[in-house]
Amino acid sequence: MVTSNNTTFIPDIAHSFKAQAQPNIALIKYWGKQNIPGNVPAVGSLSITLEALRTETVVRFDTEMSADAFVLNGASNPIGLPRLSRCLDLLRHEAGTHCRAYVESENNFPTAAGLASSASGFAALVIAAGKALGLQATRSRYAQWAREGSGSAARSIYGGFVEMYLSKNEKTDVITEPILNPEEWPLEVVVAITSTDVKSVSSSAGMEHTRLTSPYYSHWVKAQDEDLHDAREAVLARDFERLSIISEQSCLKMHGLALASRPGLIYWSAATVACLHAIREMRAHGHPVFFTVDAGPQVKAICERQAAAEVARTLESINGVQKTIISRLGHGARLV
Ligand code: DP6
Repeated sequence: MVTSNNTTFIPDIAHSFKAQAQPNIALIKYWGKQNIPGNVPAVGSLSITLEALRTETVVRFDTEMSADAFVLNGASNPIGLPRLSRCLDLLRHEAGTHCRAYVESENNFPTAAGLASSASGFAALVIAAGKALGLQATRSRYAQWAREGSGSAARSIYGGFVEMYLSKNEKTDVITEPILNPEEWPLEVVVAITSTDVKSVSSSAGMEHTRLTSPYYSHWVKAQDEDLHDAREAVLARDFERLSIISEQSCLKMHGLALASRPGLIYWSAATVACLHAIREMRAHGHPVFFTVDAGPQVKAICERQAAAEVARTLESINGVQKTIISRLGHGARLV
């Protein structure tokens, strides 16, 4: 297979290329866009990449195909196809080809249920497609392509603790960088699954609705640099207490904005709220654990390694918690 910007791309139709990526969970949340095309966030964010949840994506380009094809978890997925094709177009443009692709993706966890499947999905997609197209691109370029698929996907290109922030000079320039490797602060995450239903309001729709209708939105944007700075310092100092406070606040602020939009968005279930109380209670009793919740009813309890088993036991005993998954921090998206 030969590619470059100046030569014709000849697809290697005999070969599929496979990549794996893990979802990431934001401790400082991205919620709101400056620009919808390209998913340029209005605010920076800071996340941890999980190890136990995985997306594996296979990509094959084929000159015989007249349109892209997308199979997700064993079934054709026409709903996800336009977004996927738009993301592939960026890589096709780079490779100088219009060749269509067959994409097959599999998650080992519930899809579109608030477990960041779009983050791992687009991160795995660009890595596999880039290889299939023979692109020689940097990780930051892959992060940019992944972000154009889904904002949070840029962070799944990297492992451990990852920051995505806006350049000081050019506010639409988005920089995504790893801050610490998983081994440098081996925290664990207990994911409490309270529902495997597909969420009724996607993150993209929810954040846009919030931007347009929440009275707190402008304050959220203004305060975010300070929150990001605080969290970055806490991570670099491995200061669990400080990270707990700022992360829980960022989560509750994000949900506060969403709740105050019109009509208000309620992503939580009764079990979600019960988990939050249980986590606060465990912390009050000396267990190093704090919570975060994304645009869905699942709760992620971030803890020091020695606390994970007890945290999982406690969350499993809560009415409405279907199961828990304990995860270490994971590495970035890669070919497999
Ligand atoms: C609550 O990255 O899914 O998980 O850019 O529209 O695809 P799009 O949104 P997405 O939003 C993630 C929202 C969040 C917080 C976060 O991950 O930072």
